[in-house]
Amino acid sequence: MKTLRRHLLLAAAATLAAPALASSRRALPPMTDGPFYPPRAWRERLASDWDADLTQAQGRPATRAALGEHLGLEAVVADSDGRLVDNAEVEIWQCDAMAAYHHPNGDLVPGRFDPGFQGFGAVRSDAQGALRFRTIRPVPYPGRTPHIHLKLRHAGFGELSTQLFVLGDPGNARDFLWRALPAAGRVALELRLQAAPAGSGLRWVARHTLVVPA
Ligand SMILES: [Fe+2]
Repeated sequence: MKTLRRHLLLAAAATLAAPALASSRRALPPMTDGPFYPPRAWRERLASDWDADLTQAQGRPATRAALGEHLGLEAVVADSDGRLVDNAEVEIWQCDAMAAYHHPNGDLVPGRFDPGFQGFGAVRSDAQGALRFRTIRPVPYPGRTPHIHLKLRHAGFGELSTQLFVLGDPGNARDFLWRALPAAGRVALELRLQAAPAGSGLRWVARHTLVVPA
């Protein structure tokens, strides 16, 4: 259930996602799943590791971490009335650093994809609406600007799919899906990447508020 904590919201936002919250209370604009949402049955056949750390793919042939620039994605789920949303199911998927999606219809040719990348991850928001993923900075895919697919589920709003972009990426203005978004929608979807703290094992961090319909 949604957690009614209007007074705590500002405190939580100050620690996790103040810039995004200050700039947008507009719900995430829905966007297409695209052709590469990995079906659950396929994921379960491949491996059991679909946790929030996409940079480590336990149980796969690879014995190293994912290629690419590792990104810590810290988010808070809140609704457009400012209420934190706990226990939301949040999924992300994106192509690996070699621009291959891990999907039954993907281009998983040995040597042309990164088996060290998990490809898909899922987590639930905690009592403060917070969650975090470790993944890679998204890379361009043929015909698309860098993006991370996102799907949220919760009894309060049902299911919402969208895509996250990198603020300032020069490819955005050429991307047909980004161009179709209203300006306010772009603000809700653009990640502000910052250099990660030394010793974190990450190259980038992004703190973002995921605003869902009230
Ligand atoms: Fe995509």
